Parts: sequence; structure tokens; C-alpha cells
Amino acid sequence: MFHDLPPAIAARMRALESADALDRHDGTPRPERLRQIPPDTGRFLALLAAGAPEGALVEIGTSAGYSTLWLALAARQRGCHVTTYEVLEAKAARARETFAVAGVTDVVDLVVGDAREFLSTGPAIGFCFLDAEKEVYLDVWHEIADALVPGGLLVADNILSHAEELAPFRDTVLADERVDAVVVPIGKGELVARRRV
Ligand SMILES: C[S@@+](CC[C@H](N)C(=O)[O-])C[C@H]1O[C@@H](n2cnc3c(N)ncnc32)[C@H](O)[C@@H]1O
Repeated sequence: MFHDLPPAIAARMRALESADALDRHDGTPRPERLRQIPPDTGRFLALLAAGAPEGALVEIGTSAGYSTLWLALAARQRGCHVTTYEVLEAKAARARETFAVAGVTDVVDLVVGDAREFLSTGPAIGFCFLDAEKEVYLDVWHEIADALVPGGLLVADNILSHAEELAPFRDTVLADERVDAVVVPIGKGELVARRRV
């Protein structure tokens, strides 16, 4: 999956990595910054998503679609779609451009809006990547914990980089008997929770 990245996907990833590195230091206001996962985290997500059980493949927090490209690799391998939620229209516009130039519109469904409004009515989830504003993490957990299929995975970003802010979420998930969960020190720290079978 990683040895033969389609050139259009690889090129867009490189462009977004450069844009992300730049906007962290050039004074771009926070809401406009891309705030992407690093490449290693992308590979980690793609591996987990490719091996997750059957069920919807979901992302909460699209930004310009960098992490979505990694999930699109898994979706293509699995023969399914990834549904990604972005609350800001300006970010969604950048993501649409990403998906078009990377050639992944056939496997990516972008939904503009607050993901919390959609999750309760959505299908059962095989894999979910959560990378939104930190104050929504607990809400999302309460919405999706029961929507995960047996063996279904939630991966949440920034568990180590925002340890204090996300402590209530982290401790809630780690103590939840519906899942087995662990914090993985890759990138900004990923909480991986697997619904018990
Ligand atoms: C850290 S960035 C996501 C980065 C992206 N996952 C990547 O690695 O390329 C967080 C994004 O989540 C979006 N967001 C925040 N709260 C949201 C919500 N409740 N529903 C959907 N998107 C949300 C923000 O607008 C922002 O674009």
C-alpha cells in the first residue's frame, strides 16, 4: 500500500506537508492553519483502517484532506468509501481541491458540518479517526462508542500533545469496559480503542 503510492496522491501529500510546515510559523491565524498529522501517523492510520472490520470508515476533522488521503488508500484497498466531516466551509473547499487533484473523489465523501449532528444517525462504524477541536472529543465518544462494530476501531489524535486538555476524554475511554484501549506514542500521540468482540 505504501510502496506504490499513486503519483497524484504522493504529489498532493508533499504539497500539503510543505503548506502545513509553512503555516505553523508564518503567522497564519489558527482557524486557517492546516494542523495536519505527520506522515508516520498517516501510515499508521492507513494500516489500521485497511485491517479494520467491515463497517463505515469515518474521519472527523478533514482540514485540507491530508489525513483523508491516507485513509483513501485504505478505502481503495478495501473497496469502500471514507466519509470525512469538516465544519468549516473554507477548509472543505481546500479538501475538495485535494480530492480532485489527487484523484480520490471516487472513494471520498466529504460532509460539511458539525460531525456530532450526523453520527447518531449514521451506519455502524468499522474505523473512525478523530482529529477535531478538543472540546468535541468526549461528545464524539458518547455518540460513537455504541456505533462501533465488534472489533471496530476509534483512533484519536493529539493525546500526548494535548495531554491535559484531553485527559477527561482519554481517561473516560481507557476506563470504558466496552473497549480495549491503549495510547500509542506515534506522532502527537494516538489513542486506539477497539470495541470488544
Ligand atoms: C487538526 S485539524 C484536522 C487535520 C486533518 N485531520 C489532517 O491531518 O489533515 C481539525 C479540523 O477539524 C475541524 N473540526 C473541528 N470541529 C469539528 C466538528 N465538530 N465537526 C467537523 N469538523 C470539525 C476543524 O475545522 C479543522 O479543520
